[in-house]
Amino acid sequence: MKKTIRDIDVSGRKVLVRCDFNVPMQDGKITDDIRITSALPTIRYLIENNAAVILMSHMGRPKGEPKPEFSLQPVADRLSEYLGKEVIFAKSDVVVDDEVKAAAAALKPGQVMLLENVRYRKEETKNEEPFTGQLASLGEIFVNDAFGTAHRAHCSTAGLAAYMPAVSGFLIEKEVKFLGEALEDPQRPFVAIMGGAKVGDKIPVITNLLTKVDTLIIGGGMAYTFFKAMGYEIGKSLLDEESLELSGAIMRQAEEKGVKLLLPVDTACAAEFSNDSEKVICDRDKIPADLMGMDIGPKSMELFAEAIASAKTVVWNGPCGVFEMPNFADGTKAVAKALAESDAVTIIGGGDSAAAVEQFGFADKMTHISTGGGASLEYLEGKQLPGIACLEDK
Ligand code: 3PG
Repeated sequence: MKKTIRDIDVSGRKVLVRCDFNVPMQDGKITDDIRITSALPTIRYLIENNAAVILMSHMGRPKGEPKPEFSLQPVADRLSEYLGKEVIFAKSDVVVDDEVKAAAAALKPGQVMLLENVRYRKEETKNEEPFTGQLASLGEIFVNDAFGTAHRAHCSTAGLAAYMPAVSGFLIEKEVKFLGEALEDPQRPFVAIMGGAKVGDKIPVITNLLTKVDTLIIGGGMAYTFFKAMGYEIGKSLLDEESLELSGAIMRQAEEKGVKLLLPVDTACAAEFSNDSEKVICDRDKIPADLMGMDIGPKSMELFAEAIASAKTVVWNGPCGVFEMPNFADGTKAVAKALAESDAVTIIGGGDSAAAVEQFGFADKMTHISTGGGASLEYLEGKQLPGIACLEDK
């Protein structure tokens, strides 16, 4: 167990808080601010407990250079609205300069400032000096609350822990509680649903989950590689050739471990990768040579929904089809609906599946939606996340 801000006296102290404000933007406007609202409990607690709060984050991948389209100014504005008080934006192309240092030194308890995008500095992603030391000079306590970036060992996510007391914020605490409990002490039956395009990307997480779950459901583009491994023809469907053998090995492992592996039994196919291409439902062993699988079919939706209905814990990572195309969104929607209707602890592992439950209007029906895409995947793989490992133990 890691210490949190509850375990440390923050009153009158300058607290450096790493958040993940890497929010989607379009034409300079934030299109989804869940990562901002998820950081509010920690920020509010620090304000109420008399800390001077210095926030840090990255946005996008500006590759060590100041690029205005990646500025955190819009985040400062949105935070000011939510907090109902000014969030001082420390605008600087080098993130920490004399002016920023002076502003941090003058920051009073209860005040909040946000530094510019830490990835304007090339040292950030390499976890190198002098940037870590410069950040450290601004504060006295390091709080990491950036779950979405906890799989990165960067200056602002891990390096700072070497300089000062380091604890987690409430978001990291919550993410670790839900993801950790699911992995370590799940209520059973425990069902995991893995989707997405490439098997290769999901092999480590599938391998780890096979040691934990009762049922593993495989949907999405990667199902076709499994079909191929089973000896079926898959037409023009996505094939992850490199992972063909591993897919066979996963099926054997599941059997050895007594894990029920559920693959789609039918699929919604189309001639072109386009929403306007005619939808043809085929059994998995009858995919025509000129068609490609775009979504799971209705029999699979029923099969998956039944498994979800009898589960007590469900973890979902990766869509079941090309849900961005309305014609091929039914499978992903059916899974989201089954989760929404279930009494199980339902955990959505960030990224596309989080976007899907949001898009279909089921977000408030889930027990927990992770704010980390890559980070939740690595957590589910059983890896130690450097942004959490660096924090003090209780
Ligand atoms: C994310 O969006 O997954 C995190 O903010 C991490 O971003 P990164 O992949 O650019 O490190």
